[in-house]
Amino acid sequence: MEGMTSSAKRVLLAAPRGYCAGVDRAVVTVEKALDLYGPPVYVRKEIVHNKHVVTTLEKRGAIFVDETDEVPEGATVIFSAHGVAPIVHEEARALSLKTIDATCPLVTKVHREAKRFASDDYDILLIGHEGHEEVVGTSGEAPDNIILVQSPDHVDQVEVRDPSKVVWLSQTTLSVDETMETVRRLREKFPALQDPPSDDICYATQNRQLAVKQMAPETDLMIVVGSRNSSNSVRLVEVALEHGARDGHLVDYADEIDEAWLAGVTTVGVTSGASVPEVLVRDVLSFLADRGYDDVRPVTAAEESLLFALPNELRRDLKAAG
Ligand code: F3S
Repeated sequence: MEGMTSSAKRVLLAAPRGYCAGVDRAVVTVEKALDLYGPPVYVRKEIVHNKHVVTTLEKRGAIFVDETDEVPEGATVIFSAHGVAPIVHEEARALSLKTIDATCPLVTKVHREAKRFASDDYDILLIGHEGHEEVVGTSGEAPDNIILVQSPDHVDQVEVRDPSKVVWLSQTTLSVDETMETVRRLREKFPALQDPPSDDICYATQNRQLAVKQMAPETDLMIVVGSRNSSNSVRLVEVALEHGARDGHLVDYADEIDEAWLAGVTTVGVTSGASVPEVLVRDVLSFLADRGYDDVRPVTAAEESLLFALPNELRRDLKAAG
């Protein structure tokens, strides 16, 4: 009996998982800036929401600060993948900082939408989580027009100036299903509600959730590699539990896996958030292999090939340096 149980142990490994194009670009931006200008290079906020990435870059000479005024006058500062409000650019100019903007182009797209609808004097219902850096940045584009909607239950409290002139936009890393439920309730309340010109929840968030949905019904335990402040990683645990995984946990590192979670578990699902380097997933797979889960089967929900060019200001300096 013992033997039968252990031979049935298996791992379902999600694809896609891990780095998205925006995270890859942001991390490479800091690495190349360190090579080119030499340390220290300042980074406003965590470049991406991952503990391992931040610690590794710190060791190479990146200094992470919370606000622009912590950067010495004239130094170089990189803005994180989550984007910044226009006022942050102004603060940096006032301090004569050299700025490199690593905002993900898909977040910049939402900023542009916010600006456009605000200039047409719409009320913009921004679906997202209060205090998340991306939401703070997007809201800063149109503070007088944006109303934050945090969840479907929050819809009852939403008031607008003119119900015939409302549009919804969203944070890029939300649960697709919950967002659609929020939109459904908003539309019940405001039938003239306009959709964004294109999806705001980005391809990477959507694809990682899709893979988890496919795996979840067969999964006893879903392990999502990612940090607690990573919105898209936290959503992956929720999506797994909503779609049938019996248990699910978020871990930064393999050594955070509690052996007790594996009791009676046949199938372990493994995935990682969009800010997570693959090395951390490999550590989880070897932790599991050491405990008999060495039959690893990929579950592929989508193929990804998107790549973003590095920020212009950095490309220009790299070119000048030959
Ligand atoms: Fe960009 Fe989506 Fe990644 S918004 S940073 S591609 S999670």
